[in-house]
Amino acid sequence: MRLAFITSNPGKVEEARKYFRPLGVEVYQLHFEYPEIQADTLEEVAEYGARWLAKKLDEPFFLDDSGLFIEALKGFPGVYSAYVYRTLGIKGILKLMEGISDRRAYFKSVIAYWDGELHIFTGRVDGEITTEARGKGGFGFDPIFRPAGFDKTFAEMTTEEKNVISHRGRALKAFASWLRENL
Ligand code: IMP
Repeated sequence: MRLAFITSNPGKVEEARKYFRPLGVEVYQLHFEYPEIQADTLEEVAEYGARWLAKKLDEPFFLDDSGLFIEALKGFPGVYSAYVYRTLGIKGILKLMEGISDRRAYFKSVIAYWDGELHIFTGRVDGEITTEARGKGGFGFDPIFRPAGFDKTFAEMTTEEKNVISHRGRALKAFASWLRENL
């Protein structure tokens, strides 16, 4: 079985392949722009995108939508993470967090899989926003996110280390185990 991953990020595809190869499922990257609506939850954004794409594609596919949720900022940037990363960036988030001692935050990832019906899988990783950027790996907010139980930021970890505990890794794992039982 071949399964399209709708994304512009080849790194995400590589990550997904590891979970699906053992099932004999070949994941491939498909670039297809789709609307990302403004909504309160990642689930709504992912579901809208998947239902829109379902009208254009006649093969099974999935997409993912993720974000960083900071407790002291009432979940900001959350669904606006991509936009906030492009505008305020890491420096902007550190500035907003100046003087705030509660630094709890989490990343969440929502995968929407379409096979004629919609299936949603989620993953979350809890941690803290550091007081300075550390590390060169990863992408996005990785240099300022330290997962709970570790003394390194995501950007200081290898891709493998990050994937085992990351929000996306966890959502992919849930998706792969569902697929194993439902293929
Ligand atoms: P997207 O859903 O992949 O577009 O992610 C939205 C935004 O959330 C990205 O632009 C990043 O800023 C942030 N983000 C999502 N996942 C990660 C991650 O694993 N590490 C760091 N930032 C992430």
